Amino acid sequence: MNLKDLFIDFFVSKGHKQIPSAPVVPENDPSVLFNTAGMQPLIPYLMGEPHPYGTRLCDYQKCIRTNDLDNIGDSYHHTFFEMLGNWSLGDYFKEEAIEWSFEFLTKVLNIPVEKLAVTVYEGSDKIPFDQVSHDKWLSLGIDEKKIARTKDDNFWIAGETGPCGPDSEMFYFRSDDEIPEVFDPEDERWVEIWNDVFMQYYKDENGNITELPKKNVDTGMGLERTVAILEGVDDNYTSSVWKDVIEVIENISKLPYKGNEKSMRIIADHIRTSVFISADYSGIKPSNVGQGYILRRLIRRAIRHAKKLGIDIDSNWESLIAEKIIEKYSKYYKELEDNKAIVLDVLKNEKIRFNRTIEKGLKEFEKVANKDIDGITAFHLFDTYGFPIELTEELASEKGLKVDIEGFNTKFKEHQELSRTASQGQFKGGLGGHSEKETMYHTATHLLNAALKKTVSKDVHQKGSNITEERMRFDFSCDHKLTDEEKQSTEDLVNKWINEGIDVTQEEMKKEDAIKSGAECMFIEKYPDIVTVYSIGDFSKELCGGPHVKNTKELGHFKIVKEEASSAGVRRIKAILEDK
Ligand code: ALA
Repeated sequence: MNLKDLFIDFFVSKGHKQIPSAPVVPENDPSVLFNTAGMQPLIPYLMGEPHPYGTRLCDYQKCIRTNDLDNIGDSYHHTFFEMLGNWSLGDYFKEEAIEWSFEFLTKVLNIPVEKLAVTVYEGSDKIPFDQVSHDKWLSLGIDEKKIARTKDDNFWIAGETGPCGPDSEMFYFRSDDEIPEVFDPEDERWVEIWNDVFMQYYKDENGNITELPKKNVDTGMGLERTVAILEGVDDNYTSSVWKDVIEVIENISKLPYKGNEKSMRIIADHIRTSVFISADYSGIKPSNVGQGYILRRLIRRAIRHAKKLGIDIDSNWESLIAEKIIEKYSKYYKELEDNKAIVLDVLKNEKIRFNRTIEKGLKEFEKVANKDIDGITAFHLFDTYGFPIELTEELASEKGLKVDIEGFNTKFKEHQELSRTASQGQFKGGLGGHSEKETMYHTATHLLNAALKKTVSKDVHQKGSNITEERMRFDFSCDHKLTDEEKQSTEDLVNKWINEGIDVTQEEMKKEDAIKSGAECMFIEKYPDIVTVYSIGDFSKELCGGPHVKNTKELGHFKIVKEEASSAGVRRIKAILEDK
């Protein structure tokens, strides 16, 4: 029998109702990207709202934590994990919670008492020492010396505000060494396996702590870690949770796990998390914002490590791994089977997208990696070649170089503001694309804008733009249908600039300075205070989020395919770039 079933059966036998796992993307909580704990979907009920299933609940909840992405690759961090939990909503409290935790650990999982130790809350100026929990553990047979009293570590809250309370954590001695007489929570041979939180408080934005209407219990046990402990392995990836997934990766790469642990763990972990995100009914797809960006980063990092193992990226390796994961979990998570086709498509499409630019990106990286990577360069790698920041960081650290993350974040935020604006429709697609071809069209748009000012009228201004892989569309203010001569001379001028091989340059400046310097833009109020200005020669200067090519000669041959009316006083040009 597996741990999930044992846990649920046990708590059902104690009068609990099993509730289904909530989606990984929270339904009514915009403050977090993903559920990070079993209690998160239950916050309204912990705050006092009656739960339709009653006052005793239990479940296994899909959780995602991506704050320590860099640790993935070690033996026990995961971006996705399952948390087993039981709750009392104003029903039982400390004594029963502790009693059942102890019973489950020692009678169901058969963990010897000597291998267990616990922490209890020592107290603060606001909240007293947790005597009740302390005495309960003692009465159950935990030695006084195995009950550590701690402060901050034993007060649990998800984030900054919300329901919270002192907790009591359970630890297991994972070592063949002699068990020390006194329990020291800092001793790494003791690993935490379960946490009982006694949620009777609420913390607000000002740090004030008030009593909740009811006293609740919230517990959480990390499934991956507990399974590894029960199976007597130090490395979670060698437990039954991961073993067969790792085997699939071994078969695909024709390499043994031993010696290739880091890349194999990253691939296994990231593909599993990507499967769960994209199978969620919320329909998240890879993108450059929010959950979609996390999904993109995970898939791309997995691809990069697959490359490191010499896996043929064009083969269906990612499907084989995903299928194994779906097979393992669909008994518990129906959405994996229901959305299997979507999941496989998401992985494959993102792979194809990334594949288009990764080789070029790696070359570009080699060019710039002769010194620490500044924020703008890191952003360029992200924006033009789709390199998530941790990929750049990882590549840099392999060379002993640093990356200016803060600089990158500043650029990234600016970009996010722009793409939010774009997704609201103001720039419809104009800034959305990042493939190589879309980047080329983006620069061609600037050239066309500048050319029309010279060939048609200096009063021509951009009114909109839309770019796909196949073509560009450009709307501009103009009071007449363009003549054949005007079209021809516009096309010629753009091609002349392309042939001259002019550098596209980029600088950051204050928005007001950018406007003073004569830079063009469509919706000034939509831009952040610090903006990027792209210039081409002395004829084009625009506020813009990029991305752009580095030199106009990369564009090939520009051709206008259509000129038509768009709306009153606005004309529309459709144009393509052809290979020369
Ligand atoms: N909410 C508690 C935790 O995540 C149980 O540790």
